[in-house]
Amino acid sequence: MRDFLLEEAKMMKYIESKARSVAEFYGYKEIMTPVVESYDLLATKAGEEVRLRMFAFKDLGGRMVALRPEFTPSIARVVATTLRNEPKPYRLFCLGSLYRYDEPQRGRYREFWQSDFELVGSDKPEADAEILMLTNSLMNGAGLKKCLFKVGHVGVLRGVLSEERLDDKVQSAVLQLMDKKQYEDAFGLVKDSGASERCLAVLRSLVELKGCNAFEVVGNVKKCVEGYEKAVVAAENLNRILKLVVESGCEIDTSVEAGFARGLEYYTGMIFEVYVPELDVALSGGGRYDKLVELFGGEPTPAVGVANGIDRIMLAMQEQKVIPKEAEEKRVVIIPIGDGTKAEALRISRELKNASIVVEFEVMGRKMAKALEDADRRNIGYAVIVGKKELDEGKVVLKDLKKREQTTLKIAKLAQAIKS
Ligand code: HAM
Repeated sequence: MRDFLLEEAKMMKYIESKARSVAEFYGYKEIMTPVVESYDLLATKAGEEVRLRMFAFKDLGGRMVALRPEFTPSIARVVATTLRNEPKPYRLFCLGSLYRYDEPQRGRYREFWQSDFELVGSDKPEADAEILMLTNSLMNGAGLKKCLFKVGHVGVLRGVLSEERLDDKVQSAVLQLMDKKQYEDAFGLVKDSGASERCLAVLRSLVELKGCNAFEVVGNVKKCVEGYEKAVVAAENLNRILKLVVESGCEIDTSVEAGFARGLEYYTGMIFEVYVPELDVALSGGGRYDKLVELFGGEPTPAVGVANGIDRIMLAMQEQKVIPKEAEEKRVVIIPIGDGTKAEALRISRELKNASIVVEFEVMGRKMAKALEDADRRNIGYAVIVGKKELDEGKVVLKDLKKREQTTLKIAKLAQAIKS
């Protein structure tokens, strides 16, 4: 687990602010859930990958609990309990730290942050389209370029497997193996479970069906799974989702991959991940999960969502040299010259703060040259020098540290001068 110092902490907060603004514009309301949850709740449909990597322990009351590895089960719990009687849809948003005992490496940490969006209560393709579109809005908001959405549909693979009468557990095991690209093991398991030769041939072809011409790939998937009714319906569903996105004018680069599976077991429909060329790990991942709320004791409630990795978005921004576009922040240092000017300098700093200017007071007692050098190094825009001589005339010296200019002006005009 890491410390985030100055610039990185600022960048993380910047991305969080972008996520909050997406939440606001799409109408997602923030909820806060606990970091520690019941182990069973988190483990039920997490899939082997996440389940084995949870920080799990017995609490002092003897209950098996774990640090949350994701938000989705907690949100499904809230939907199944506290929110159960509220009118749907719910648009829910969570932001915070998650924990997985992953092997630490670039982009893979044991503590990481997500912004999570869940659209609960609709099984319509426009809900899936909204999740894709808001993810794209976040990537654009963060200033990222060349994002590729890898899209698939769990219903295609599960549709084929369930019509071959493979039970749910075996299906999940097959999908886990496919997620790790261990195709031969996956096909071996399918074969050992008594599936037909046709099924194996179909799965092999599906793995090959991928590409950026989304509608052509989906068309080929439909042909490939002919006869497996549920899989055909799933392919048609994916087609409708992508059509809505494209026809809305939203420009998302997609690569449809029919053999794509995600590690989490709760998915039932469209799934996706977002990549940039500079990183080999996904920035975001999500999809449709129509059975989870029910599993937690709620009404049957369809849902679709996405989680965006804040840490990985930051890495991608660093790789792509994206400079956060901040509201031009006016930052000022105030340097009193000599003891007699300190109280007045503090009063001026209060006035500037009241005028929404960020002010740092020189508290180290450094000489002016040293204090200016430090302000320069930290990229501060202005210095206000409070000297006895100017104070006697109700004035101070304002230095523009970028333009290397200075003026002496009335204290009453100072805030206005800095702002303009
Ligand atoms: P996930 O794919 O496990 O999905 O994680 C989503 C994102 O969290 C990843 O794409 C990545 O950016 C970030 N992430 C995951 N693990 C790590 C790690 N060890 N270090 C850094 N970043 C990481 C979920 O969590 C689902 N709950 C997404 C979802 C929401 N599906 C439906 N609704």
